[in-house]
Amino acid sequence: MKLSLSCSVLLFAALGLAACGGSSSDSKPSPSSSSASSSSINSSSSSVSSASSSAISDGPVASLHTLADFPVGVSVSAGNEQQSLLANTDNGAAQRNVVETHFSQLTAGNIMKMSYLHPTEGGYTFDQADALVNYANEKGLGMHGHALVWHSDYQVPGWMKTYSNDPETFRAMLAEHSETIASHFAGRLESWDVVNEAFNDDGTYRNSDSLFYQRLGETYIDTAFISARAGDPNVDLYYNDFNISNVGPKFNAVLAMVDGLIEREVPIDGVGFQMHVFMGWPSTSDIKSNFQKIVDRGLKVKITELDIPINNPYDGSYNYPNNYQASLTPELAQTQKTRYCEIVTAYMDVVPEDLRGGITVWGINDSSSWLIQQLFNRQHQDWPLLFDDEFNQKPALEGVADGLTGKTCS
Ligand code: G3I
Repeated sequence: MKLSLSCSVLLFAALGLAACGGSSSDSKPSPSSSSASSSSINSSSSSVSSASSSAISDGPVASLHTLADFPVGVSVSAGNEQQSLLANTDNGAAQRNVVETHFSQLTAGNIMKMSYLHPTEGGYTFDQADALVNYANEKGLGMHGHALVWHSDYQVPGWMKTYSNDPETFRAMLAEHSETIASHFAGRLESWDVVNEAFNDDGTYRNSDSLFYQRLGETYIDTAFISARAGDPNVDLYYNDFNISNVGPKFNAVLAMVDGLIEREVPIDGVGFQMHVFMGWPSTSDIKSNFQKIVDRGLKVKITELDIPINNPYDGSYNYPNNYQASLTPELAQTQKTRYCEIVTAYMDVVPEDLRGGITVWGINDSSSWLIQQLFNRQHQDWPLLFDDEFNQKPALEGVADGLTGKTCS
């Protein structure tokens, strides 16, 4: 089915995370129409599991991270979160088994965000994050920090929202925040997302929903990077955003911002492409073109939050509950494998070894994905990740392995 190419900017539910849908020149055949019933996640979960299991390929991957000489990461829950990686439960043990077998770097999905680490003025709480970092260090896993400065209302500490209106007082506070946190973890992290999601999809700076822009304008970004470097002289410092692996105004704006940082000699080591992408969007030619522009500046490229759902709510053929993919068929699992492979291949083709910051997927197993709640409103299941809910590897994992080892994507 041919899909609309319109790149309509829609909001990801609850998050203000925008995405474009539609076909691209290299999009896979559109998932066939489904006349699925409006079954809930719970009522459909058993069929989900069996569908996932039946889709397991016959080419298991022994250890994904050993196929790459750069970080191969995954985001995890930890601390007080439900389904913590470190929980003394069967689920926790199963997660740790996957993590220790297949990945070489962890990102905290939540617990290293601002409100977790700096909940009160002058008060830092590092215990939960330290436990995760200590676990990673003990197991020989690297850590990517996420994130020192992020506008998202959910995780901006309440006290910061009412902090001084005087720009220089606010700037000093922000600098102390970034430097203190970077300093606390110095020597224990490989990299930080210093500033996360500073731009709207039209290329303008976030303003109405960004406390930091409102108080300081775009110069808050310089402050965050300079103070992060003051806190840790060796960690890699990234600017991180979504919807920047497609060609368009948002990526152009990021590029211009990065050029400004370089010109002003503000320390930045790389750009993080979150890559919450879809089966058919964006095109691999767009992805390669944007990677190349960062490489051309001598900066590292890191895929920081990769996931590829089967359903795409911005795709004209998606119409829950009348028309959506209600199960992961072997054919869809195969198409997803190819898509994962093509994205990893794009990375390997364009990014030279010394600029490979790594590839991280956003979550371990399918039903734990943020997309289920925040994109699909828990109305139905999806299968965006590399492992099913019994922690069996999916063909998608093999797709990543194929991409890392230079095999033809199939
Ligand atoms: O911890 C509370 C818990 O006490 C409460 O009972 C529960 C009820 O909803 O909420 C829990 O907090 C949730 C939190 O995740 C921890 O699990 C929040 O509601 C929920 O909004 C939050 O979602 C996270 C989201 O960022 C917002 O910070 C997702 O897990 C996380 O995957 C997502 O990650 C972001 C990246 O940081 C930036 N890029 C986009 C990506 C996906 O949105």
